[in-house]
Amino acid sequence: MSEFIITETLERVLRIEIKRPEKKNALTMEMYAAIAKAINQGEQDPSIRVILVHGQKEFFCVGNDIREFQSVSVPKGTNPIADFSAALRTSKKPLVAAVNGYAVGVGMTMLLHFDLVYAGSNAKFRAPFVDLALCPDAGSTYILPRLLGHQRASEIFLLSDYFTAEEAYQFGLVNKVFPTDEVLEQALSICNQLSLKPPASVRLTKELLKRYTANPINEARMVELKNFTKKLRSREAREVFKAFVEKRKPDFSKFK
Ligand code: COA
Repeated sequence: MSEFIITETLERVLRIEIKRPEKKNALTMEMYAAIAKAINQGEQDPSIRVILVHGQKEFFCVGNDIREFQSVSVPKGTNPIADFSAALRTSKKPLVAAVNGYAVGVGMTMLLHFDLVYAGSNAKFRAPFVDLALCPDAGSTYILPRLLGHQRASEIFLLSDYFTAEEAYQFGLVNKVFPTDEVLEQALSICNQLSLKPPASVRLTKELLKRYTANPINEARMVELKNFTKKLRSREAREVFKAFVEKRKPDFSKFK
C-alpha cells in the first residue's frame, strides 16, 4: 500500500517499520492508511500476538508531512489520519514501540496509545502543534495531562520544546531507555517474551487497563480532530506551511 511502510512477521510478532528516511519518516496520508491497514491485519491474524512499530536509528517519525498539509485533500468520507488513530486506539493486541531519534508531532502523540514504549538514548520528543498554528491530536489533550499533570503537559504543548529519552522515562511515557544501537533488538526480545504468554489473558488485561479511559480519549480525539481540521485552513497555519517550504521562520507580526 505504501513503499514507506514495511511489514514483516517474525514468528508471533508483526513488525511495522516506518521507512521514509529522506523526509525523516514524515507521514503522508498513504502511510497513515498503510499503518492502519497493517495493524488491522495483525488484529485479524490469530498467529500474531504482538505488534511492534519502529523507525530507524536517527528518526522514529517527525509527524505529519507538512507539505501534504498544503496540497492533499482526502476524498470525502475517508480520513486516513482518523483510521490510523482508531487502529491504534482500538487495537486489542499489545502495541510496542521502539523509538530512536526524532519523535515529533504525531510521532510523539501516537506513543500515548502504545502499551509499551522503549526508547534509545538518542530519542528526542517534541509536540510542536502550537508552533505549527494547529492543536494537539490523537486524544493527547486528554492523555498527557493525566500522565504528567497539567503544568508539565502545558509545557510540552505550549512551549513545544524538545524533551529527552530520560525525561520521557521520568514522565512515564517510556518504559525503559536503552543504548541507541540496542533498542530495536531489546524491544523485539520483549515482544517475543510477551508473544509466548496466554494470548486471551494478555488481550483481556489490555482491555481492562484501557476500558475506563476509552470513551473520554475518543471524545477528546474527535474534538481535537474537528479543531485541527479547522486550524489547517487558518491564515496562521498557511503562513507556517509556506514558511516551512521556503525554509524560513514564520512571521506572525501582522496576525491578531
Ligand atoms: N513534513 C515534511 N517534510 C519534513 C518534515 C515534515 N514533518 N520534517 C522534515 N521534513 C523534510 C525536510 O523538509 C527535509 O526535506 P528536503 O531535504 O526536501 O528539504 C528533510 O525532511 C530533512 O529534514 P531537515 O529539516 O533538513 O533535517 P534536520 O535534521 O535539519 O531537522 C527536524 C530535523 C525534525 C528538526 C526538522 O526537519 C523539523 O523540525 N521538521 C518538522 C517537524 C514537525 O514540525 N513535525 C510536526 C508535523 S505535524
